[in-house]
Amino acid sequence: MKTAIILLLAVNTALSGVIDNALKQIEQQLSFLVEQTDNIRTQNSNPKLIMPRSLKSDGSIKMVNQDDWCSGFYPGTLWQMYRITREDRWRQEAARNTTLLEQVQHHSGSHDIGFMICCSFGNGYELTKDETYRNVILAAANTLTKRFNPTTGCILSWSWGKDKWKFPVIIDNMMNLELLYQASLLSGDKHFYDIALSHASRTLENHFRADNSTYHVVDYDPENGIVRRKMTFQGHHDESVWSRGQGWALYGFTMSYRYTHNRKFLERAQHVADFFFSQKDLPEDFIPYWDMKDPNIATQPTLVPRDASAAAIMASALYELAEYSSKKVASRYRGYADKILTSLCTKYLNKPGTQHGFLLSHSTGNWPANDEIDVPLNYADYYFLEAISRNKNSHP
Ligand code: GLY
Repeated sequence: MKTAIILLLAVNTALSGVIDNALKQIEQQLSFLVEQTDNIRTQNSNPKLIMPRSLKSDGSIKMVNQDDWCSGFYPGTLWQMYRITREDRWRQEAARNTTLLEQVQHHSGSHDIGFMICCSFGNGYELTKDETYRNVILAAANTLTKRFNPTTGCILSWSWGKDKWKFPVIIDNMMNLELLYQASLLSGDKHFYDIALSHASRTLENHFRADNSTYHVVDYDPENGIVRRKMTFQGHHDESVWSRGQGWALYGFTMSYRYTHNRKFLERAQHVADFFFSQKDLPEDFIPYWDMKDPNIATQPTLVPRDASAAAIMASALYELAEYSSKKVASRYRGYADKILTSLCTKYLNKPGTQHGFLLSHSTGNWPANDEIDVPLNYADYYFLEAISRNKNSHP
């Protein structure tokens, strides 16, 4: 027992040294991203392209407009940096970039308003208690409720693709529930909470396979709420294990447990983690292949792209999951997260002054569409910093 505690302390101390070293690089690299982003905004022929999302195949920055699902991650990353360092310059940068997304509160065309607003205004409110942020959060939550259908019990994910599905709900959508849970707490209006609870319960019921992996898309019939089809859009095939989807499930149900204390949500998150980290093909550094059922893993694994974004999302979720789990299981979850963070900090972190300032390399956005493969992605950076912050605050 004593030896185990000493070993654990040694591992924790080693990782905190790794993280502190990485943070020196991260500060420089994020300053570079701020500089690059501001330059592009000044030169840009399209003033609507305001937020850095990734790199294009020619190596230049891919900028997106406020309605892109990734628009909140850059301000969110700056808020995470402020959370970690408490340096006022990061608060100012984060606030300046958050304000640019003010109109997103009215954007009813996407379920991803949760990502956009929680990362920017949500973090901003938590860290500053600025009332204008609170008002945006409440208005945005109200906008999101317009996508709820009481017959399916779910929030509609995509408004496009009517030839492929009727009422698609993707596992990613679990992440957007945080906006509703938060709005309910801030306003005392239970309506927001009820919608989030309904969506999470239906997802629990219909999205998971017997082995505890998740489907990407479940298509409902909006007339009667019956499931029409279970399939993928961003994974390798319908029955495959798209890594980022498993990450959204793990994070989404852990976060839903935080707000509801529903033990079924906690158990679901634990089962997802147990399933994923027992995959025989999981690479030794714990940065997963973009899809764990890509058939090329068996024959030419080095050619199969990894997804650092999935790893970062999982690491962040695992630190929170550990807080809610029994001691024995918690140390296993913290161990997985520590291993991921060690790999990200030592092998995937870009050197200062490279990659236009993005923090992590080797993420995969949309493999079936041949889009954003083996590139930096702003959401990988966001969850990486959140995981670092959680590691620093975790209580083993
Ligand atoms: N929500 C889209 C994705 O994870 O790629």
